[in-house]
Amino acid sequence: MSDTPILVTCGLPYTNGPCHLGHLRTYVPADFYVRYLRHCGREVVFVCGSDNHGTPIVISAETEGVTPRQMSERYNAHFDETFKKMGIFFDRFGMTDDPMNHETTTEIVTKLIENGHIYKKTISQSYCPHCEMFLPDRYVEGTCPYCGEKARGDECDQGCGKHLEPGELKDPVCKICGSPAEFRDQEHYFLKLGDFKDFLNGYLPTIQGTSNAKNYASMWVKEGLHDWCVTRSFNWGVKFPGHDDLVVYVWVDAPIGYISFTKEWAKATGGDWEQFWKPEGKGEVIHFIGQDIIYHHCVFWPSLLEGAGYKPPKAVVASGMVKIDDKKFSKSRGCVVWTNEDYLDIGLSPDYLRYYLLSYTSHTKELNFSWKEYQARVNNEFVDTIGNFFYRTLHFAANKMGGIPDLDAEPQVLEAIKSTIAQLDKAVGEYEFKAAVEAVLALGNTANTYIQTNAPWKLMKTDENAARQTIRNCLQFVKALTILLDGIMPVKAQEAWELLGYKGKVADCRLSEALTGFDHSELPTPKILFAKIEDEKVAEYENTLKMRLEEAKAKEAGSAAANAAGSAPAQTASDKPKTENKGDKKMEDNNEPVEQISIDEFFRTQLKVGKILEVEPVPKSKKLLKIMVDLGEESPRQIVSGIAPYYRPEELVGLSVVVVANLKPAKLCGVESNGMILAAGDEASLLTTKFEVAPGTKVL
Ligand code: MSP
Ligand code: ZN
Repeated sequence: MSDTPILVTCGLPYTNGPCHLGHLRTYVPADFYVRYLRHCGREVVFVCGSDNHGTPIVISAETEGVTPRQMSERYNAHFDETFKKMGIFFDRFGMTDDPMNHETTTEIVTKLIENGHIYKKTISQSYCPHCEMFLPDRYVEGTCPYCGEKARGDECDQGCGKHLEPGELKDPVCKICGSPAEFRDQEHYFLKLGDFKDFLNGYLPTIQGTSNAKNYASMWVKEGLHDWCVTRSFNWGVKFPGHDDLVVYVWVDAPIGYISFTKEWAKATGGDWEQFWKPEGKGEVIHFIGQDIIYHHCVFWPSLLEGAGYKPPKAVVASGMVKIDDKKFSKSRGCVVWTNEDYLDIGLSPDYLRYYLLSYTSHTKELNFSWKEYQARVNNEFVDTIGNFFYRTLHFAANKMGGIPDLDAEPQVLEAIKSTIAQLDKAVGEYEFKAAVEAVLALGNTANTYIQTNAPWKLMKTDENAARQTIRNCLQFVKALTILLDGIMPVKAQEAWELLGYKGKVADCRLSEALTGFDHSELPTPKILFAKIEDEKVAEYENTLKMRLEEAKAKEAGSAAANAAGSAPAQTASDKPKTENKGDKKMEDNNEPVEQISIDEFFRTQLKVGKILEVEPVPKSKKLLKIMVDLGEESPRQIVSGIAPYYRPEELVGLSVVVVANLKPAKLCGVESNGMILAAGDEASLLTTKFEVAPGTKVL
């Protein structure tokens, strides 16, 4: 067996929101992997920490009225605690804003500059003249230059998913004040990714881990490497050497956090960090991440390391993304399951969630969470087999045999365990955690069938020795399964270990102990370890999710209703029957996504206050009135409006109304109309002003 020390890391969570199930798909498999390697006797260091820089954290902190550091400390503690509750224990859980990472980042960036990989260039960047600032990343929204979808300053999050460089976004709008941004020149620093083409072409074929990481990265290198702007004009982050007004881009100092956290671990324990990161060191680095950040880990990060004289990672293990009920994760749409609020805090087992996340599907595939599926997997696949088998064996041994029979397990039992370990080893080696869990489950099934067929409770009456041998064999299965379960269900595995009469930690024992006997015979009083998840509970959990989705929809519909009120009079003026009213239809269909417009688009509609001067019916029409309105212009405007059923002409005269002043002229029943009077609802309630306002005043 290899004695190479291994450093395992997990994608660092951003500190601007709580932990959700999507995050766990990075951390749970990594923890499973680490536990497995340790059971094999491998030397493993497991580090992680939180990613504190970047614009979203500053924006969230501003909204809450705290500093980005305070916000980061709060969520850092939150993730640290949540991971522990999930049975995930890092040797170091740091923060990218801590001094060690500022120091390491400065050192690496300085080396990249010295080695000629970073150059200066003036670029045209989004600038908000109103807020008087440049708009980095999330401070600006606009249109993706590649696919034309709505996008953020740093990525096309709703369209093609491409990373966007500063200045690339089209039609930029300031996120703070909503006004259109302009482009202004600014000096920035760029990493020459192209310098690393040959290096990447040599390195990527050797990278281990899941095939998606290697394949995507190789494809991107083939498509061509674009230089990355590595500075932002901002004051939250690691200062770019020699520039007080610039920080490095968050994706520079975030992965460097992996090195910093290893250094912090080394400092605290006397360990050796250089073995993992220096080219001559014999240690290996394995990154666990989600598929969304493959580019950063397989193209950008290895180039940074290579350019600064460090060693690139040995392997990148990238999971498919987690969805909820077939919908993309979205906090704003309520499509999220929070690890604490929706799961741990209501007393659900961290072990069951680990089991579900590991066994649901192949690691690189999408994981579509649903409470029903969760329940089915736990109850039918797990509790019915392994749960049942553990209870029967421990109960029978403790209560009917007075403990562990003083016999050896039979060879066929040991063979079955050996073959499971071999399957497990292969599966873990291929990062196929589902297959690994299935191998353990299959052993559970074998054991369950074994106890069922040999029925020691019957044998007891006819052949006590055979019954004792059967139970001894079963106890060997329980012991092996308990050790193998540690990576999947660490809490339950420890409980089972104690029910087998052990005092130590199952996490500390070797896989080989799955094949060794017992040197004690006493067993404590058995108890049921695995309970089923009840139907009523699942209905409750589903309801929580449903309510959250509906609340989010209602919020969205709130703005839809406001739009509907505004658009209703368009049809009033064109004299369409109410049933075809587009505004009302929007009200009925408020489940439909409502198209959003920019402030710019809104301002294209000119709304003005008008005073009604004269009103007369339109001949041959029951609905239309010809209305003369003073809009502060040279002569009154003639507007035709479909409000005759609701008002007598004389009661309208003298009223201040809101008018769409820049509508193209239209003829209604042969009479020309030059604008539209706004009204809301079924009774065409006219929009008016609370105080007297001069005709022609703009409505904003
Ligand atoms: N801060 C970056 C990572 C920097 S690593 C140097 C980041 N943070 S995150 O909070 O968005 O995600 C943390 C980890 O969770 C990442 O590995 C990410 O891939 C993973 N996931 C977050 N949401 C996810 C899903 N919905 N599905 C699967 N994994 C995803 O990315
Ligand atoms: Zn796009």
